[in-house]
Amino acid sequence: MGAVVVQDLTYQYQPGGGYVLKGINCKVNQGEVVVVTGLSGCGKSTLCLCISGAIRHQRDGVMTGKVMVNGRNIREISGARLSLEVGMVFQDPDSQLFSPTVEDEIAFAPENLCLPPERIRERVNKVMELLGIATLREANPCHLSGGEKHLVALGAVLALDPPVLILDEVMSQLDTAGKKKVAGVLEKLRDRGKTIIAVEHNLEAVAFSDRMMVLESGELIRFERTPSLLDDRDFLRARGLIDT
Ligand SMILES: Nc1ncnc2c1ncn2[C@@H]1O[C@H](COP(=O)(O)OP(=O)(O)O)[C@@H](O)[C@H]1O
Ligand SMILES: [Mg+2]
Repeated sequence: MGAVVVQDLTYQYQPGGGYVLKGINCKVNQGEVVVVTGLSGCGKSTLCLCISGAIRHQRDGVMTGKVMVNGRNIREISGARLSLEVGMVFQDPDSQLFSPTVEDEIAFAPENLCLPPERIRERVNKVMELLGIATLREANPCHLSGGEKHLVALGAVLALDPPVLILDEVMSQLDTAGKKKVAGVLEKLRDRGKTIIAVEHNLEAVAFSDRMMVLESGELIRFERTPSLLDDRDFLRARGLIDT
């Protein structure tokens, strides 16, 4: 059984509108890091929203097919329960940051679970240490850089400790050192058995991943082991996924 199984998934933002996802099928195993790449507008974020269940908030959208997370159809899991199964960091982190301080932001979800205060403090400290953001504890998330906001949003998701993580371009606004740091964190999370689906354009930065999928105009055109895809320079160049 895959940790994430997507079957014949299609998506339209409006009934009768164009298909943004056109029959996606894939299976991601538990403990795998899978990178999703493809040109801007090919449907990466929409796929993330479908897998995480966040697509429910698009009122007019039409989704067909099925997304299973750890053996359960996400349509049948309630919102609160779903966030314990799958956590998502959005491409635009402003859409998920709302607390006055970084510490509050990361503590928010465990507080909602009504965990005892010392357990919450423990989780917040652990997450901050893992992500290297302890110095931002008292900062207002609104005032942070884009890269820092992504880290805080990731921290808030990790505080709930879901087995599946969906990360939409969390490295995009970080410098090379920042990308390396996040790659190291993702490797650690993989070692702990997390299943990670991460959208990323900079393929070098995620060379440690297990497999990569390439989307093109809403279709999954490649899904294979990372070294094999990275070796196919002609394909990557022809599709505009690398420059050289
Ligand atoms: N809220 C929306 N309403 C209508 N169309 C949208 C919406 N969000 C994205 N789209 C369209 O869906 C397609 C895929 O977008 P997206 O999933 O964001 O692609 P990517 O993340 O690969 O850049 C694009 O053509 C985009 O314009
Ligand atoms: Mg996107």
